[in-house]
Amino acid sequence: MKVIICKNYDEMSQKAFEIMKEVVINNPRAVLGLATGTTPIGLYQKMIKDHKENGTSYKNIRTANLDEYKGLGLESDQSYIYFMRDNLLSHIDIDLNNTHFANGLAEDGDKECERYNALLEQMPRDIQLLGLGSNGHIAFNEPNTPFDSQTHLVDLTESTIKDNARLFNSIDEVPRQAFTMGLKNIMDAKKILIIANGKNKAQAVYNTVKGEVTELVPASILQLHKDCTLIVDEDAGALIK
Ligand code: F6R
Repeated sequence: MKVIICKNYDEMSQKAFEIMKEVVINNPRAVLGLATGTTPIGLYQKMIKDHKENGTSYKNIRTANLDEYKGLGLESDQSYIYFMRDNLLSHIDIDLNNTHFANGLAEDGDKECERYNALLEQMPRDIQLLGLGSNGHIAFNEPNTPFDSQTHLVDLTESTIKDNARLFNSIDEVPRQAFTMGLKNIMDAKKILIIANGKNKAQAVYNTVKGEVTELVPASILQLHKDCTLIVDEDAGALIK
């Protein structure tokens, strides 16, 4: 795994942007695996700015998001599809029909997992962007998720519910289940870009980079990927210097 430690959040976002832009420029029909959360917002802002100022086009780009809360759809401003439109997709020239999510409102969860999984197999990702949970999760693959997992429905852990509560009016509103790509789906991407900032990620970053490859730390599987870059700010990188 290639590790880049940056001075701050802005530099982390800039480095991540450069990698993402290279993929889009080299292949205007690329498939991007995208993530939600607070970490990638700076990167998405740079992609929007670059699109507006330099005309980088997403016309033929396709995207697939990592995860979606069960029970939430586009009409909820807490859904991940809403987040992605608000923070990136509605501000670039991408065809929204080419942007894919697990459907949080699907009635049959198992069928929805099958549908999304089949879709991912048809559109291998050229790059997969990831954030990192403070417990080492990637997407919603919590500790103890099998390394060979594919798209599935998960019960969120207390620690993830607490982490995510800051984005809701109250902790009671945080959904308890989510659809998520599995670890195998993530590892299938040609290139992986994982970003993390802030002191609360330092231990997870250490475990991801220097720890044992174990299902207890889902992100540790990334040590086995051929082309994975981790970009952190100084706080998140404090234990790996
Ligand atoms: C989001 C996702 C999550 C987040 C992680 C970090 O699509 O899959 O795994 O990347 O929880 O979240 P933030 O960036 O909010 O710290």
